Amino acid sequence: MKTPRAFYQPLAIGAPSPYRELPVSLERMIHFVPPHLEKLRAKVPDLISRVDVILGNLEDAIPADAKIDARRGFIRMAEENDFGQTGLWTRVNCLNSPWFLDDLMEILPAVGNKLDVIMLPKVEGPWDIHYLDQLLAQLEARSGITKPILIHAILETAEGVKNVEAIAAASPRMHGMSLGPADLAASRGMKTTRVGGGHPDYSVLSDPAGDGAPRTAYQQDLWHYTVAKMVDACLSYGLKPFYGPFGDFSDPAACESQFRNAFLMGCLGAWSLHPSQIDLAKKVFSPEPSEVAFALKILDAMPDGTGAVMIDGKMQDDATWKQAKVIVDLAKLVASKDPELAQVYGL
Ligand code: GLV
Ligand code: MG
Repeated sequence: MKTPRAFYQPLAIGAPSPYRELPVSLERMIHFVPPHLEKLRAKVPDLISRVDVILGNLEDAIPADAKIDARRGFIRMAEENDFGQTGLWTRVNCLNSPWFLDDLMEILPAVGNKLDVIMLPKVEGPWDIHYLDQLLAQLEARSGITKPILIHAILETAEGVKNVEAIAAASPRMHGMSLGPADLAASRGMKTTRVGGGHPDYSVLSDPAGDGAPRTAYQQDLWHYTVAKMVDACLSYGLKPFYGPFGDFSDPAACESQFRNAFLMGCLGAWSLHPSQIDLAKKVFSPEPSEVAFALKILDAMPDGTGAVMIDGKMQDDATWKQAKVIVDLAKLVASKDPELAQVYGL
């Protein structure tokens, strides 16, 4: 293990120093764009004001014969737009693919100074992060990139889930992680054919009533264990956890429910693969106005965050004060970007 001081040293002479704290940014949805398609690239200027993060996808869902066009399309998309406060990310191909090295070698020199985060798929362990960390430092140094590019890992293999804490701890470049339920299902040998969400057969059956009455099957959340494990690993290392994709665009209610479970458990955002998921994510990952109002009451009632008070019949103490602070801090961040919600929150 590196010493604490070495951990924060740049990994190449001339590369920028790693951040000690992550930049504060609102990332309720990571909106995926397939950059080889000119028609969809043309929508990017409009998307910039609608989403928190725009991601040029180079990996799965891009056909093998369009990989190079996607990479070049991403570079063009980055060059031609001013992203302002909206994050610019790319999901590169995985480390053992024939495209990964050229993804990095072409994108960094061309638009590295505009790129905030690289999403790395199929991360298995800290060794994958160490490799990308070193390569990024070398390319940052060579291309004169002045702010460190962060790494976001997709948690989508059984081995990755097993090693999630070591992945979180691997580098100060780590931004966070997303659950990748589709690849994870395959890697684990789950018997599903879906991209995220629940499954009607994953359920608990109520006890027999004894009178022959039909028994109720209560559907359970297939992703609960993994999201919880990811949230604990991320938050203990100061990283950001995200739910990933929800593939059934015809079922916005199920998507909203999956996103909300992730939000309640600690996630800060999810992927939007379809324009209809942008507003869903915005709604779910911005705290509820009634929760914000109650959280503000708690903070008001306990100005120094200690002691115990009763509010509306509910006991509040240091621990609920801290929960309230999480909600109010997020609401303030949302309000700084969204004047309408700022008014609703009264912030
Ligand atoms: C995302 O990449 C997934 O595999 O779910
Ligand atoms: Mg995947």
